[in-house]
Amino acid sequence: MRVTVETVLSTADVGQFHPAYEAGFDAPRTRAAARHLLTEDEFNTEMTDPRIKKSDKSEMTAATLAERPDLAAQVPGLLESRWPAFLLAGRAAHGINLPELLLSHPGHQVLLINGDNDLIGAALSVPLPGEAYPTGWDGAIRAAADNTEGRTDQVCALSITVAPEATRKGLAGRLVQALKQSATQAGARRLILPVRPTRKADYPLTTMPAYLNWRTEHGEMFDPWLRLHARHGAELVGITDPATTFTGTVAEWEKWLDMPLPQSGEYVIPGGLAPLTVNLAADEGVYTESGVWMRYRL
Ligand SMILES: CC(C)(COP(=O)(O)OP(=O)(O)OC[C@H]1O[C@@H](n2cnc3c(N)ncnc32)[C@H](O)[C@@H]1OP(=O)(O)O)[C@@H](O)C(=O)NCCC(=O)NCCS
Repeated sequence: MRVTVETVLSTADVGQFHPAYEAGFDAPRTRAAARHLLTEDEFNTEMTDPRIKKSDKSEMTAATLAERPDLAAQVPGLLESRWPAFLLAGRAAHGINLPELLLSHPGHQVLLINGDNDLIGAALSVPLPGEAYPTGWDGAIRAAADNTEGRTDQVCALSITVAPEATRKGLAGRLVQALKQSATQAGARRLILPVRPTRKADYPLTTMPAYLNWRTEHGEMFDPWLRLHARHGAELVGITDPATTFTGTVAEWEKWLDMPLPQSGEYVIPGGLAPLTVNLAADEGVYTESGVWMRYRL
């Protein structure tokens, strides 16, 4: 399916739309207190005037990358707008070419698109065989790369991202629903997620088991991201440790973090769920974080 947003309609096309407009708005013609309906001339003038909005720009649609391959080029920019640089540029322990893996499963990459045809959210996932929980995010990526037959007993979400300008409007739930739908259509019996609790980055010195015990005053899980999944019906399976490991040289880490790392030791870093360990003699920084497996039955 291809969606285009036109700002001007040709006079020939307008003729096709006016009967639909009249039919759609027939009820207000007799019930509204004042005249709201445009005459055919007024309608034609509006449709051929580029200054007049032709679509509800706040309208969102969900599609997979298989349906909208033209949006693939916007995905890296979306991820860069929300994820710490070290999680995108660091050498990941899974050792797999992740963009290539994701592009080989376009039907599992769910995109959220606004009325301007811009990408404002993405839920990236891979099919997995069997019912086992891999060791975290790295393990899930390795298992997906080994799944050469493309078995889809379960689908594993790898990341969910909402663009800065669209965040905190409840769109993450929309992506979760669309992801559940695409996993169901692919024949999976469950959707599993090695969740990265979003507010854990504010408490990098707290252990994951202790953090998971925290509750809000209403008795819900403290972490908003775990809470959102729980509200959508996900069950908490347990902690996965490690979930992921990234390494880089000291100079690379200084660049990714935009801060000097003058001595060996542990550092609290922006966006890190746990501290970074720097070893100047080995010219290496190693970052490992744990995660939380959650599961949706489909
Ligand atoms: C996590 C993310 C996908 C949430 O998307 P969103 O559309 O902004 O989320 P919602 O508006 O549905 O909010 C979901 C919950 O998170 C809370 N929330 C959202 N952003 C938050 C933030 N920066 N700090 C604290 N809470 C936050 C909301 O208050 C809401 O919780 P509540 O309903 O219990 O109050 C988005 O913030 C994002 O892309 N973050 C960067 C990538 C990431 O960390 N993804 C999650 C790990 S895969």
